[in-house]
Parts: sequence; C-alpha cells; structure tokens
Amino acid sequence: MGTIWSDLKAHRKRTADVRISDLLKDTSRFDDFSVNCGEMLLDFSKTSIDKPALNMLLKMAHNVEAKRDAMFRGDKINSTEDRAVLHTALRKRSDEPVFVDGEDIMPGVKTSLARMTAFANAVRKGEITANDGKPFTDVINIGIGGSDLGPVMATLALTPFHDGPRTHFISNVDGAHAHDTLKNLDPNRTLVIVASKTFTTIETMTNANTVLTWLQSKLGNDASKHLVAISTAEDKTRAYGIPPERTFGFEDWVGGRYSIWGPIGLSLMMAIGPENFGDFLSGAFEMDQHFLNAPLAENMPVLLGLIGIWHNNICGYPTRAILPYDQRLSRLPAYLQQLDMESNGKSVSIDGEPLDQNSGPVIWGEPGTNGQHAFYQLIHQGTSVVPCEFLIAAESFEPELQNHHNLLIANCLAQSEALMLGRSIENAPDSHRAFPGNRPSTTLIYRKLTPKTLGMIIALYEHRVFVEGAIWGINSFDQWGVELGKELASKMLPLVEKTMPTTGVDASTAGLIGKVRSLRKT
Ligand code: F6P
Repeated sequence: MGTIWSDLKAHRKRTADVRISDLLKDTSRFDDFSVNCGEMLLDFSKTSIDKPALNMLLKMAHNVEAKRDAMFRGDKINSTEDRAVLHTALRKRSDEPVFVDGEDIMPGVKTSLARMTAFANAVRKGEITANDGKPFTDVINIGIGGSDLGPVMATLALTPFHDGPRTHFISNVDGAHAHDTLKNLDPNRTLVIVASKTFTTIETMTNANTVLTWLQSKLGNDASKHLVAISTAEDKTRAYGIPPERTFGFEDWVGGRYSIWGPIGLSLMMAIGPENFGDFLSGAFEMDQHFLNAPLAENMPVLLGLIGIWHNNICGYPTRAILPYDQRLSRLPAYLQQLDMESNGKSVSIDGEPLDQNSGPVIWGEPGTNGQHAFYQLIHQGTSVVPCEFLIAAESFEPELQNHHNLLIANCLAQSEALMLGRSIENAPDSHRAFPGNRPSTTLIYRKLTPKTLGMIIALYEHRVFVEGAIWGINSFDQWGVELGKELASKMLPLVEKTMPTTGVDASTAGLIGKVRSLRKT
C-alpha cells in the first residue's frame, strides 16, 4: 500500500466527521466538484471528497495516463490472454492507424462496419428476405453475458429510435426463456442471430439448437436464410452450418463485455438503423477523445474512477448503486454489473501477486422512481452506506407527458438531497424518523437519451472501470473466474440427467441431487 493510500486514509480519518452539507457551504463547491463532457454534467459535490482529498486522488491517477495511452495504442495490456484491448477502435471516427502485431486493424474495422450496415439495411428494407421471399419482421439474438447484455440494454434504451424489425433476446439456458420468446413468434418471419465470441458457450449453443429446430419445424431443413452468426470463431460458425456471408466476425482484442460497438451490436443496428448506430459510435468516440485529452482534473472518466476509489478503498463502502431515473435505462445496472464486476472482480495484481487493497465493488441498482419503493429505506436509514450514482435526462421523449418527467427529475434530485441532508433527531418526532444523512451520491445529467448520449454514457463507464483497475494494478480484461463453475457444471450434468451414484461429490451436492431426484419421482 503506497504512501498516497495511507495519506488518503489518514485524511479521511481526520475529516470523517465533516458533513457533506457543510462542504457545500463553500459556494464554489458545485463548480469545483462537477465536470462536463459535451452536454453531460457529472456532479460529485454531494460526496465527502474535499479539495485536499481530490488533489491526492488526482496524484494517484497519474499512472493511469500511460496505461490509458497503452490501451488505445494497441499494446497487449490483457497480459494473461496476451491480447490487446481495442473496443475503442470499433468506434474510432478518425483515420489514424491502430496496429496489432504490426498490422493496421482499422481497414478491417471499417469493412466489418460496412458489412453490418449493408446487411442491416437490406433486412430493414426487405431486400434480404425469409425463405418465403417476404421480409423479416422479428429478430432473435441468442447470446449471454457480453453477447446479450449490451444489445438488450441498448435496444431498450433507444426504444424511441426503433424503426426496424422487432428484437427479441434469448440468453438463459432455462428452457422457459426460449419457450416464452418463441411462443409468440412465427419462424417464417424470424431472423435468428447466434451471438457468441467463442461459439462454445453452453447456454448459447443449447438455445441455438432449440431455436434451429423451431425454425426447421416450419421451414424444413434449409433454415440457412434465417440464420446469422456473430463470433470470433469462424471455423465453428461454418461447422455449425452458417456460411461466411452470414457470419460477422470480430477479433479477440474485443472483450465480450466491451463488444456492443461491433458485430455484437447487429441486433441494435437492425432495430434503430445504421445512421443511429453511427451516432451511438460517435458518442462513445467523443467520450474517448475526452478521456484521452482532458486534463485529469477535468476528465469525467478519471474523476468517476477516483470517486469510486474514494468510496470503496478509503471510506470502506463495498457496493455502489446505479440508479438511472430513466425507465429505458432499466437494464443499465445489469449491464454495468458485467462490465464492472467481470472486469474488476479480481484478487491478484496483473503480476499475479495478492492485492493489498480492495478491488471491484459490488454493483447493483434499479431505475428510479421504482427503487424508492424497494430499497431506499436501507440507503437512507440502514447501517450500510451505499454510494448512489444517479442518472437523469433533462428532456423526455414524451412532451405530452411533461408532468411525468418533471416529477421524475424532482424525485431524483430530492433523493440525492435527502441522502445528504438527512433529518436530525432534533428535527424528527423520534429516532425511527431520524435520517443520518451525510450519505454520498453523484448525479449525471444529460439532455436526452439519444444514441449519441447512450454511447457517451457507456464509454464513460468503460473508462471508469479502466481507471479503477489501473489504480489497483489488476488486469481488468480477462475473466478466469468464470471457468470453475463451467467445469463443475459439465461434471454435474450426468448426475442430474441420470441416476448414477453421487459418489465423489460433496455431501451437500449429493443431498441436493437426491432431493431433485425424489421430487422428480413424485
Ligand atoms: O461470463 C463469461 C463470458 O465469457 C463473458 O465474458 C462473455 O461475455 C460471455 O461469457 C459469453 O461468451 P461468448 O460470447 O463467447 O458466448
């Protein structure tokens, strides 16, 4: 643990009793503790970070710049998989080359985007048709994790921009997911995307086989016109029977949870059209440029990352709540759970040494105002302090319902204020109605949830995760922690499928399998 960590902790100890509301008596605090990027503003004045703490945090961020530049440059910073990390190249709107293993990858990126665009346009215009020669009206994306969460979140977020085929998503291996999705669809009208970076994920391949059978039940054996594959494993997609012209490949320097910007975004592009998808990419590119060029003290991803470090490592708050006051961002918390927790849920450094400080926090959340009627009791009066990250649009897409939006904004700002102010025991009828207050929150304000704004928001959080991981000195881009469960599941399957003896498994698992078997018998 370096001296700056101990200096920060000592500072926190000295100032822990200072109330956020007292800090806000400094009339310049809102200006000094908020940061702009384009039309967006991030307010972090309702946190316990004071000017000395901010200066120390910014010192801690100095090593981030070199790591950031290495990522954008194409260095193989994902050292355990010997890969570059270049999701930023997928949304690059300028022409400089980006080299991986001596080869400029940008021509391939542009070719891939052009192929996606041509295909999406042809489907949307009815030039690419179903077996019966008619247009597709529905698209199913079969995928999980990064091959699902991004498309699901973004298509919902950009509902006002849908003017293409209806999109549906199957991810869980639970048969209910495929069943409930397929029961309302017509195979004749449905295009199926099998999205899997590895093309081996058991949930996706199981769902793909079920949906292929569903297609063939109506179309006969030749369902190829209704199939698309998205993968880095083009040998496997071909072996599956999907021809190259229906396969959209991407490279291993795009992590699954960072892949919405490329072919994994095909379902989104079909829903909103290539032009809006381009705006989505441009928004992310704008945030990239800001992250690359803004001074640390005016750098939104850097500051959001430092706020996370302050709350998690210095104040000792192990979780953070993502609270979008935007119903169409209701899947953003789930998306950020993978982005953040699969990136920074690590316990060894990039060099393989045990960490000497906490790493990724637990990410959770629900849209407002619904969360107010579910868990805000705890965040206001519970014994755990939860840093809250609010997001709110200034404008809605439903001007005829402006009263709704005014209420939404009022609730969002009121919750942030209530968390900070609380209500002292002196001003409360009794201790049950007292609020400790002094609970931190940040608020991200954007004008309207457009494709460009969504691109900016996602890139902001990608880079915030990067900043925290760089400061902790971990590899944010591998995910070895998901392998053990998969290995054990493949060994468990025969025990569930058959009645072979449960020797060799632990007593709990044996007991549980026995219970499943007895219930199945009755
Ligand atoms: O959760 C593990 C993981 O490998 C994620 O990183 C990935 O997004 C997901 O599974 C799906 O992987 P694939 O796209 O290869 O099917």
